[in-house]
Amino acid sequence: MSATPASALFSAVPLAPSDPILGVTEAFLRDPNPRKVNLGQGLYYSEDGTIPLLQCVREAEAQYLRSAPPRGYLPSDGLRAYGDAVQQLVFGAASPAIVTLQTLGGTGALKVGADFLRRLEPAARVWISEPSWENHRQLFEAAGFAVQSYRYYDPATRRADLAGMARSLAQARPGDIVVLHGCCHNPTGADLDAAQWPQIAALTRERQLVPFVDLAYQGFGDGVDADAFAARLFARTCPPVFVASSFSKTFSLYGERVGALSIVAAGEEEADRVRSLAKQIVRTNYSNPPAHGAKLVAAILADASLRALWERELAGMRERIKGLRRDLARALRDRVPGADFSFILEQRGMFSYSGLTREQVRALRERFSIYAIDSGRICVPALNRGNLDYVAAAIAEVIR
Ligand code: LMR
Repeated sequence: MSATPASALFSAVPLAPSDPILGVTEAFLRDPNPRKVNLGQGLYYSEDGTIPLLQCVREAEAQYLRSAPPRGYLPSDGLRAYGDAVQQLVFGAASPAIVTLQTLGGTGALKVGADFLRRLEPAARVWISEPSWENHRQLFEAAGFAVQSYRYYDPATRRADLAGMARSLAQARPGDIVVLHGCCHNPTGADLDAAQWPQIAALTRERQLVPFVDLAYQGFGDGVDADAFAARLFARTCPPVFVASSFSKTFSLYGERVGALSIVAAGEEEADRVRSLAKQIVRTNYSNPPAHGAKLVAAILADASLRALWERELAGMRERIKGLRRDLARALRDRVPGADFSFILEQRGMFSYSGLTREQVRALRERFSIYAIDSGRICVPALNRGNLDYVAAAIAEVIR
């Protein structure tokens, strides 16, 4: 059969569905209502509703610009100083058995890791949590994998369901890949605790699964080290391990696309071979990553005073989110007496899995120009003193 003639090439292109997260931002931007609120996409906003430029980033950037460096290419695996600093941050120490590549955000890390795994194990299945970040399924499917879901969340308790998760993962075959949220589970905010993670690590080891830890919010839950608990546990006990890091939120560097993929190998010689394949995958995809954001993050992590400043600014964002959770729970309790909103305080990270149904989310959008994800996920740091009461009153209205 011959190929479609060029003039008809696009005639059968289907209209792709709008992205469940990015599509919400697009709809929000089209809305002329001056009271509109975007609780959709995960972005940290300051009290004045703007995306902050962290002071540590300003200082690192000023130093960088003063030195007026040439803008050459980076190697395919990125800036080595950045890779070493990320290893320290994620694993507590750098190791020659761990390969860390700079990637285009956390999504880029997931995709490079997915392409890498697909080269090695095309028949493996990928297991993602139910629910999970909206992009996980389509990303791993786009890499060619069959994607399955494992039970993760119990809507009745609004907590992670360890027994259900273990039951699902008992169906996985050796070599299957299990995607785990290292901290601040997206979208539920319900994390496993320090007593539960070792049980999942033991199961992963026993069943010979490959853990792929998505660590997009390290420092937004309980702190930089506390939030790396699971990634470090898996690295110690279950190699090979993949970890996708994102610094979009934690350094407020969204558009700079600063992420990293770490692959924990059995030793240095294995790591060298792993690095060579990962570099080849990058080379045939986007050749090499952009330099600017990674240079800033590397400079901040390498300098004691900039690093301390970053940790203070990160703690400020984390604590402000916790304060907003308290304010939102209180405002909802005042308007819907008798209802229990304590779950909002227990969830970790940026998101609250509100329990709003798809219809209630639609009603929020249509009646109040308040935009949330269809799953009921809302981005807590999009709230502020200027809109919190408006949002709480609207939620109370649609759930009554
Ligand atoms: C989110 O979950 O909203 C963020 O990770 C942004 C994104 O790219 O989806």
